[in-house]
Amino acid sequence: MSDTGAKKSVGLKSLPDTVSAQTRAVHSGTRRSQYGEVSEAIFMTQGFVYDSAEAAEARFIEAGREEFIYARYGNPTVAMFEDRIAAIEGTEDAFATASGMAAVNGALMSMLRAGDHVVSARALFGSCLYILEEILTRYGVEVTFVDGDDLTQWEAAIIKGKTRAVFFESVSNPRCRLSISPPLRVWPMMQALWWWSIMCLPLPCFKTTANWALMS
Ligand SMILES: Cc1ncc(COP(=O)(O)O)c(C=O)c1O
Repeated sequence: MSDTGAKKSVGLKSLPDTVSAQTRAVHSGTRRSQYGEVSEAIFMTQGFVYDSAEAAEARFIEAGREEFIYARYGNPTVAMFEDRIAAIEGTEDAFATASGMAAVNGALMSMLRAGDHVVSARALFGSCLYILEEILTRYGVEVTFVDGDDLTQWEAAIIKGKTRAVFFESVSNPRCRLSISPPLRVWPMMQALWWWSIMCLPLPCFKTTANWALMS
């Protein structure tokens, strides 16, 4: 299929605002090919074809939202997944990785450098703890662990100008400890988010067991 054909027949259809959260969770981000499949197509290809060398060059310089270059950077199947997760989470965008630990490691490694400080909830999935305690510290990042449900501990642990991220799991695995996010504690959560936004701190939150949609 040529690029032009792909643009005509494959497309991201946005859902109307009136659609329910449930429908959004099932259909957001769907890109339907020229075959009109009902379910999401699974794209097995690594590469994509171009009309010309010039078209290839242009796409490599800057790919449009519905243009793909190489499956490791993204493909229509992954794009559907990312858009659906963003719709469920109510976020601007989403980025998919091949595993949970790749997401945690990639997120933290890309935002931190030697000398930075992270505050994290103590109750974590073992491998997250390993990344924070063993890997980040090896690269000169300092980590302070706090009781996730105690906002005063979070506040006390933050070092102005040095803390670059705060980290927690919405419901920790395996101990099911709640950090400051559950709906029953909406006010502390709002307070914390407001406060973190003032501090401009990124908030990596791991949600294997529950995302905002499931918790509200
Ligand atoms: C909170 C949490 N983080 C990370 C992981 C690991 O994810 P993956 O096995 O996809 O790397 C899990 C797996 O259960 C988890 O519960």
